[in-house]
Amino acid sequence: MGARIEPDRKLIEPIELASRDEIAALQRQRLAATLRQVYANVPAYRRKFLAAGVRPDDFRRLEDLSNFPFTTKADLRENYPFELFAVPREKVVRIHASSGTTGKPTVVGYTQNDIDTWANLMARSIVASGGRPGMVMHNAYGYGLFTGGLGAHYGGERLGCTVVPVSGGMTERQVQLIEDFGAEIIMVTPSYMLAILDEYRRVGLDPKKSPLKIGIFGAEPWTNAMRAEIENAFDMDAVDIYGLSEVMGPGVANECVETKDGLHIWEDHFYPEIVDPDTGAVLPDGEKGELVFTSLTKEAMPVIRYRTRDLTRLLPGTARSMRRMEKITGRSDDMMIIRGVNVFPSQIEELLLRTEALSAHYLIVLTREARLDVMTIYVEVRPEADKPHSRAGAGEHLARLVKERIGVSANVAVVDANSLERSLGKAKRIVDKRNLS
Ligand code: DLL
Repeated sequence: MGARIEPDRKLIEPIELASRDEIAALQRQRLAATLRQVYANVPAYRRKFLAAGVRPDDFRRLEDLSNFPFTTKADLRENYPFELFAVPREKVVRIHASSGTTGKPTVVGYTQNDIDTWANLMARSIVASGGRPGMVMHNAYGYGLFTGGLGAHYGGERLGCTVVPVSGGMTERQVQLIEDFGAEIIMVTPSYMLAILDEYRRVGLDPKKSPLKIGIFGAEPWTNAMRAEIENAFDMDAVDIYGLSEVMGPGVANECVETKDGLHIWEDHFYPEIVDPDTGAVLPDGEKGELVFTSLTKEAMPVIRYRTRDLTRLLPGTARSMRRMEKITGRSDDMMIIRGVNVFPSQIEELLLRTEALSAHYLIVLTREARLDVMTIYVEVRPEADKPHSRAGAGEHLARLVKERIGVSANVAVVDANSLERSLGKAKRIVDKRNLS
């Protein structure tokens, strides 16, 4: 698993190697400014601070942040679309969005400075991965409201790469363009990378002879076993990239190619905490819990103590002074990531209840076929609606709604009334049979 390439040391920024004292001092100063900024400009934050009995002046030491209230996805939904912006809407040059738990998406905004910061952090992430100016970067993250495509794109351009904005899909063409353009860097979800690997083999090309040297994989959980498979098949270095739209997008944290030992959090822009997912209490470094982020430099939409729901732990820096987060091992909520798309069971539930012949008894089963995620929704027919043909029609209707509204394909199996197991307590809605390795 050792690195085949070395990062370009000249491109590592001084702050990445600064002393912990220097990093903490910068964080203290930027946190104080961010708390003042949201208190002055975002009524929703001011109300929450006052309800919790805190004001920006109460923040003096980094530990004081734990007295400030959390922000959750629900806060974004309640303030849909633009109420959490800390600048007039006219100053926002870009909007991204991700699917919310139900109905409305969650919206995020960026000023021109925010876009610049993001491009710089993505460029930093590509350098940490071993990328250099002049390399061809094949970008198969989805373009659009999802932050993956454009986030990676701007970072590649900022570093001086030749960016190929392929987006996802049409696997055969992906392989052809990688080969024809001589891509040395590929940015894509790890599961789609496996599909690309299969395509290499299908068309009889030796992946080891591909021009690819570096894979920067994220947007969904993956394992070190998957890393080993991809690295060996392509003879490349595979590193992990993490981010979320509410905090910025990809490039919040990235693995360093020379160590591949977890993801360095770009702590000059994001302040991490680990909390107990049940009590919200801050846990010491090294203990596992839910990752929480406060942005330190965002203008359009700063976030204070945003609950990511991702489970991990914080570890000391190695290749950089900045702390590492271990690979994400799970979530404290029921969000599924299906072919890179975030999906909550409640979104499915909302749609199946809009389908006349279907009841509210359902189970979502996730499997992997030909390396790709497959979602099958088992749902009981309503006894009174169980007429010939109504089952097939209802199943097709639900599959269409899921595709249209959530953007993922689903198999629907309409089953007999009372055939799915009833739970006595919390309903089990998801059976995840995907073998991550
Ligand atoms: O997935 C941003 C991104 C794009 C990251 C491209 C990396 C590469 P969202 O759509 O808002 O943003 O989804 C964020 O995806 O809370 C995690 O649960 C999951 N996730 C993202 N990166 C990783 C990773 C993008 N490297 C949610 N490992 C996050 C595990 C990840 N999970």
